[in-house]
Amino acid sequence: MYQAYKTSIRMASKTAAQRLKVVVFVGSAREGRLGERVKKFMLKQLEQKNYEISVLDAAVDQEFTMLNKPVFFYGNDRTKAPKFLVEKEKLVKEADAFVIISPEYNHCIPPGLSNMIDHFGGSCYAMKPSGLVTYSAGQYGGMRAAMQLRALTGELGCLSVSNIFGIPSAQKSLDDDGKPLNEHMESGAKKLLDQLDWMAWAMKNHREIKPSF
Ligand SMILES: Cc1cc2nc3c(=O)[nH]c(=O)nc-3n(C[C@H](O)[C@H](O)[C@H](O)COP(=O)(O)O)c2cc1C
Repeated sequence: MYQAYKTSIRMASKTAAQRLKVVVFVGSAREGRLGERVKKFMLKQLEQKNYEISVLDAAVDQEFTMLNKPVFFYGNDRTKAPKFLVEKEKLVKEADAFVIISPEYNHCIPPGLSNMIDHFGGSCYAMKPSGLVTYSAGQYGGMRAAMQLRALTGELGCLSVSNIFGIPSAQKSLDDDGKPLNEHMESGAKKLLDQLDWMAWAMKNHREIKPSF
């Protein structure tokens, strides 16, 4: 029994010699958004890791109309689903981890973010970790939205890692190009991404041994 377990771990580690696939959700669709700076900064941090990165952005991917028909409501036959949605579903399904970049609107998750997320079924997210990056123009760094994102990611099965990277006064913390303006930015991102990386590999290895419950 133990031998079989050790063999399966060895096999999993071998297959896991690939790169992690990370999907980044960017939640603000607002013109002139501060989120643009946070997106640029986080992509720079992620690019320093050897990841395959895809971005689903509420401001860029405007094919995400207000939720009309989630892709999983098309049944098993995806030929009738919009091509755009099927392509994005593939990214989410194949992801090993998620980074969720979110402002806080009225102490809540912005609608553009939950709208994008809701287009895909829970099975695309399950058994994978997520990392929360929240920000605001004020002093709380979007922490109330982060608490709601904890519940949302928990429901989807992509539980968020314990560290939350909250960025207060994002307009003073990052310049227009996403360049950090204080010493906390890079260390804060590192803490989050180190945890996310560990969890993503652990979960990926275990998914290979045991793909479902
Ligand atoms: C509809 C709306 C609601 C907001 N609610 C909050 C809030 O609850 N807490 C907060 O700290 N800032 C709030 N703000 C201010 C945001 O922190 C600030 O506008 C920030 O730039 C939003 O991110 P974005 O520019 O990427 O959209 C709100 C902004 C908008 C547009």
